Parts: sequence; structure tokens; C-alpha cells
Amino acid sequence: MTANTWIERFGLRQNPFKDTLDTSLFFRTRQHEEALIRLRIGLEDGHAIILLTGPSGTGKTIATQVVLRAMDRSRYAPVFVFAYPGMTRGTMLGAILKELGVVDIPPFAAQRLTMLQEKAMTLHAGGWRLVIFLDEAHFLKADVLHVLRTLSNFETEQEKLVTVLLVAEDSLLRRLKAPPYASLLSRITFAVTLEALSRAETEQYIKYRLLKSGAQPNLLTPDAYAAAHDHSGGVPRAVNRLLYNSFIEAMGQDTTVITSEVLTRAEQRMAVLRG
Ligand SMILES: Nc1ncnc2c1ncn2[C@@H]1O[C@H](COP(=O)(O)OP(=O)(O)OP(=O)(O)O)[C@@H](O)[C@H]1O
Ligand SMILES: [Mg+2]
Repeated sequence: MTANTWIERFGLRQNPFKDTLDTSLFFRTRQHEEALIRLRIGLEDGHAIILLTGPSGTGKTIATQVVLRAMDRSRYAPVFVFAYPGMTRGTMLGAILKELGVVDIPPFAAQRLTMLQEKAMTLHAGGWRLVIFLDEAHFLKADVLHVLRTLSNFETEQEKLVTVLLVAEDSLLRRLKAPPYASLLSRITFAVTLEALSRAETEQYIKYRLLKSGAQPNLLTPDAYAAAHDHSGGVPRAVNRLLYNSFIEAMGQDTTVITSEVLTRAEQRMAVLRG
């Protein structure tokens, strides 16, 4: 048995539920479409800081990748940076400068900030707007978040020079509501949220991924869609994981039909992964 036997067995071209940021698999659920529209409006209107929040696995990163790819490079200079636990002001600013193609990055955070301001001004003079996508922003400590406030002060008389799109889990929003963050929160002028998918959206999402992978439309029985939503809570990453495990479960049961029983059995086996 080769590793991909199950893919052939189900008549698929690829694993429909791989957990990747493959934007060709992006499905525009009503709320994802709305988020994309709102993000585009936010960028167009030149907000200094835009916040995109939602529970883990709801599609924040893939949605920002879709926006990033569609950006007009003659007007925007976008950079994408992942935050991580322990990231300092200096490393964040260094990462942004590196993405902007700077080779000689100065050693100190204050110098990096000055250089970033100069870069933003030069870009502005050339007709570009610097847009910083900062993903996993919930990992940033207070002092690093406060640098964003400084970035939001970069401006000409007419407009802000930089847009920061903060992408984070809801925990960041809860932190930002504490008094020390009041001045930063007041500078966030636009917010976009993603939530878990509804029952109907979960079904559409699964069908779309199956279709993109060459599956037969009746691979899942009608009751399996409801079970998939109930077990996953409608979070796309959890749907992917559950469905993938269901295929393997079905293989083990020597069937090529995913029923609600197969899904439930797969869910039970995944108990080991629950905290
Ligand atoms: N609308 C969508 N269309 C297709 N796939 C999606 C969609 N939304 C989410 N996914 C898939 O779900 C998984 C999780 O998405 P993503 O990594 O973007 O979530 P996230 O909100 O950024 O999670 P985290 O907060 O943990 O970083 C990915 O494999 C992604 O491909
Ligand atoms: Mg993410």
C-alpha cells in the first residue's frame, strides 16, 4: 500500500482536506467574502491600523493571503511578517525591513524605526503605500504592540503613510481592551472578524473542496454533512482534520462512502488530540 492509496481509492486527484494555505482552494463563504470586501475597503481608505480577528483555524491567514495576492503592486508595497512568542521590537522592525529588501539593517530598534519611516516616505513619494501584514499578532508583547502606535503616527498632512493589518486570535482583542492599550486601541479605526462556519456554509465548504479534488458529489451521505459541522464546530481547520481522518477511517472499514457513522468514529479516534 503506497501512502496515497486512499486518494486513488476515493477517485481523487489530491487530498481535498490538506491543511495548507493553498489559495486555489479558497472558498468564498458569505463571511469570507464579506471579510475580503471589508479588508479591501480598509486598505483603500488608508486606515493606519486594521484588525482582523477570529478564532484559530477560521481562515484569517488564508484570507489575508488572498488579499495580498490581489493587491495592485503599482499602488501598494505590501510586506508580510509572522509574529512569534518572544519577538522583540527590534526583530519585528528588522523583519519588516528585510521584507522591504533592506540588506544593511541597523543594529538598534530606534534606528530601524527611523529607517522604516524613511522607507515609507520614499515609497509614498513614488506613489506606493506601505502595507504591513502582521500575522499571529496575539503573540506580540506590550512594548512591541506600542511600536505599532508609533507607526500609525507616520503621516503627511493629508494621509497616514503606513497601513498595518493586524491579524490575530480573539485573545488580542481582549488584551487591547485593558487600560494600558487604550491609546493603541483608539488608533485601530477598522475591524474585520471571522467566525466559525454555519451548518450550511460547512456543507458548501466541504463540497467545494471535494469538487476541486475531483471527488464524486455523493462521496458523503447527506447526514454526514450535519455530523461534520457538529463535530468540527464549523471551524475550517477542524473540518479539514475531521474529514481527512474520516477518509482514512473509511479505508479501514473498506468503504468509499463517508457516512455520519464513519465521521463519528473518526472523531472518537481523534480524542487523543483533544486537550
Ligand atoms: N474560506 C476558506 N477556503 C478554503 N480553505 C479555508 C478557508 N478558511 C480556512 N481554510 C483552511 O482552514 C485552515 C486554517 O486556515 P488559516 O490558517 O487561514 O486559519 P487562521 O484563522 O489563520 O488560524 P490561526 O489563528 O490558528 O493562525 C487552512 O488549511 C485553510 O486552508
Ligand atoms: Mg493564521
